[in-house]
Amino acid sequence: MSFRPVFIAVVIAFALVLAAFLINRARPKAETEQPEGAFVRATGKCAECHSRTQYSIVHEYEMSRHAQKNVSCLDCHQAAPGQDKEDHHDFVIAKGHLTAANCRSCHEQIYQQFTRSRHAAPAWAAIYGEKGLTPEQVNFSETYQPGGTRRPPHPFVQAEGGSAMISGCEQCHSIGKPNPDGTIGTCTNCHTRHTSSVAIARLPSTCGQCHMGPDHSQMEIYDESKHGLMFAAQEKLLNLDAEPDKLTTRDMFVPTCATCHMSGINGLGVTHDPSERLSYYLANAMTEKRPNYAQAQAKMKQVCGQCHTEDVVNRVYDQAEKVVQTTNQRVSAAKAIVDGLRADGLLKGPPFSQPIDFLYFDFWHYDGRTAKHGAFMGGADFVQWHGNYPMLKKMVELQAAADELRRNRAHQK
Ligand code: HEC
Ligand code: HEC
Ligand code: HEC
Ligand code: HEC
Ligand code: HEC
Ligand code: HEC
Ligand code: HEC
Ligand code: HEC
Repeated sequence: MSFRPVFIAVVIAFALVLAAFLINRARPKAETEQPEGAFVRATGKCAECHSRTQYSIVHEYEMSRHAQKNVSCLDCHQAAPGQDKEDHHDFVIAKGHLTAANCRSCHEQIYQQFTRSRHAAPAWAAIYGEKGLTPEQVNFSETYQPGGTRRPPHPFVQAEGGSAMISGCEQCHSIGKPNPDGTIGTCTNCHTRHTSSVAIARLPSTCGQCHMGPDHSQMEIYDESKHGLMFAAQEKLLNLDAEPDKLTTRDMFVPTCATCHMSGINGLGVTHDPSERLSYYLANAMTEKRPNYAQAQAKMKQVCGQCHTEDVVNRVYDQAEKVVQTTNQRVSAAKAIVDGLRADGLLKGPPFSQPIDFLYFDFWHYDGRTAKHGAFMGGADFVQWHGNYPMLKKMVELQAAADELRRNRAHQK
């Protein structure tokens, strides 16, 4: 038998295999990487189409706890009570946006906590007042957050107009937007839509999406604090995925925003209402104690106490409370100047129509707030160079502007 035909056959076979491989490789990736049958069934067939068109979404879901626990695409995408339905490739899914209603069905208790928080109705009312909220929603929120919801729209709604509100304020404050289905807000600002991850919710940058900038520099303060420094250095050593009800200081030995404000570390209990651990209204021009001052402060100190001795914690609070007092004194002095001008008819017109209105607003809204936040969260630079120093400077400017207005008035007489 000659060796030749065998050799030719082998060469042809190899060439065919190679050609098949090359042709297959040239096909679009989405066609070659069909999801496995079992996975497609687990997602309720949605992945059959969507892993081709939006691979990213299906993949994020695939890695989630929901996928592990057989929560399907349709479990979230079906219409919740109060939502319209639409036909969708042999399925019926919710028409329009998904909301907290689509999470509430399985996480009712967390939804209830969330609606008691300032992330719910008060966040929305900070821009639009009661607009869009039902009287029941306003009453409910007011029981937990007095003064948070029953109030007029912010003067900037009028002064800056719709496009500034929609692309600006609303991007952060819609965390508490009233939804057409009767629920409030969204859960996905912190958990994302398809990962439903606690690890992502625990990252400082997640909160920093909104908690940043000159009027609430929590992210910047954290970054420069010892806690932020340690987090940057040791993030990879932390167990950010730890189950919330089993979270200990062995998993998170460096705190993030969530650790202090929400987590239930060492059995303390997770909360979706960060107000539970806050003793002051730091965001206000004049900072007052909250109605639950003592209890809330004890709760936060208990969190600090998981990692620190009592002395360190009490020192931070004692010093920060002094910063609150001095800032209140400075703000009330600045306010007295502006109020005096108005009383004497030297400042006229609607809010934010005179340069001095902005000077006073920046005084408490940027510098005063920043000093207070910095003092509680370990940001010395913010207490001083973004807080007390600009207050000192603006006080001189305010006084000079007031003197000038009074001099002008005297000349006109
Ligand atoms: C036969 C293919 C196919 C299947 C199966 C399928 N989709 Fe879609 N889906 C699409 C296409 C194509 C679009 C783009 C808009 C359209 O045609 O509706 C889309 C759009 C969407 C949108 C965007 C919003 C909208 O209403 O257009 C969502 C959400 C969605 N699909 C969810 C799902 C869910 C959940 C399932 C499973 C219950 C599913 N899809 C099953 C093909 C499919
Ligand atoms: C934990 C709940 C949840 C699960 C599970 C889930 N989704 Fe979604 N999905 C959402 C939410 C929330 C949105 C945002 C909808 C909105 O804003 O209206 C969304 C949006 C989408 C969109 C539109 C996204 C865009 O950017 O255009 C598609 C398509 C989609 N989902 C498909 C799927 C598919 C396919 C699965 C399963 C593989 C799935 N979803 C599983 C909650 C979920
Ligand atoms: C059909 C029921 C169902 C729906 C709808 C649902 N979830 Fe879940 N969710 C679960 C189950 C079950 C678990 C796993 C609980 C466990 O492991 O103890 C879970 C776990 C979670 C976790 C914890 C994940 C972790 O890593 O520990 C988060 C966060 C979460 N869901 C957020 C959401 C959000 C946000 C939505 C809406 C967009 C939502 N869920 C909708 C059933 C649901
Ligand atoms: C980058 C995100 C972001 C934008 C944009 C934003 N805010 Fe806020 N706002 C926040 C955060 C975060 C807080 C909480 C600050 C705190 O408690 O220290 C807040 C607090 C407030 C408060 C004080 C709390 C309260 O309920 O009284 C008001 C009022 C407010 N914002 C109104 C507005 C208005 C009006 C706009 C647009 C002109 C706006 N915000 C734009 C994130 C934002
Ligand atoms: C989508 C934007 C957004 C994200 C993300 C966000 N917040 Fe907020 N947060 C707000 C707004 C807006 C307010 C102000 C609500 C109000 O009082 O009007 C607020 C208020 C707060 C307050 C003050 C509550 C009070 O009683 O005064 C705390 C504390 C807080 N957030 C912590 C967090 C933490 C921790 C995270 C991350 C796990 C986070 N936030 C993520 C927008 C956001
Ligand atoms: C301000 C950010 C934020 C918002 C908004 C938010 N969460 Fe969370 N959520 C967190 C953080 C942070 C954790 C993890 C706490 C910890 O470290 O253990 C968490 C944990 C969870 C868990 C696991 C808790 C447990 O005890 O097993 C679920 C489920 C959950 N969230 C669902 C929701 C739902 C549903 C909503 C909307 C009603 C929502 N979350 C809104 C930040 C948020
Ligand atoms: C080490 C613990 C700790 C960490 C980490 C931390 N905070 Fe705070 N935070 C505090 C304390 C303490 C206060 C003041 C409490 C009080 O009023 O009694 C506070 C106050 C606040 C307030 C002010 C609420 C008001 O009254 O206006 C907001 C908002 C806030 N923190 C958000 C954040 C965000 C966002 C991060 C992460 C970028 C963060 N915090 C990190 C402990 C912490
Ligand atoms: C999960 C653990 C954890 C929690 C909770 C925590 N811290 Fe810390 N803290 C640390 C670590 C780790 C360091 C760095 C210690 C070092 O330098 O060795 C630190 C450093 C500090 C420092 C700087 C110490 C110094 O002398 O330089 C202060 C002050 C501080 N924390 C105060 C607080 C306060 C106040 C709270 C509560 C509002 C708190 N911490 C919550 C872990 C924590």
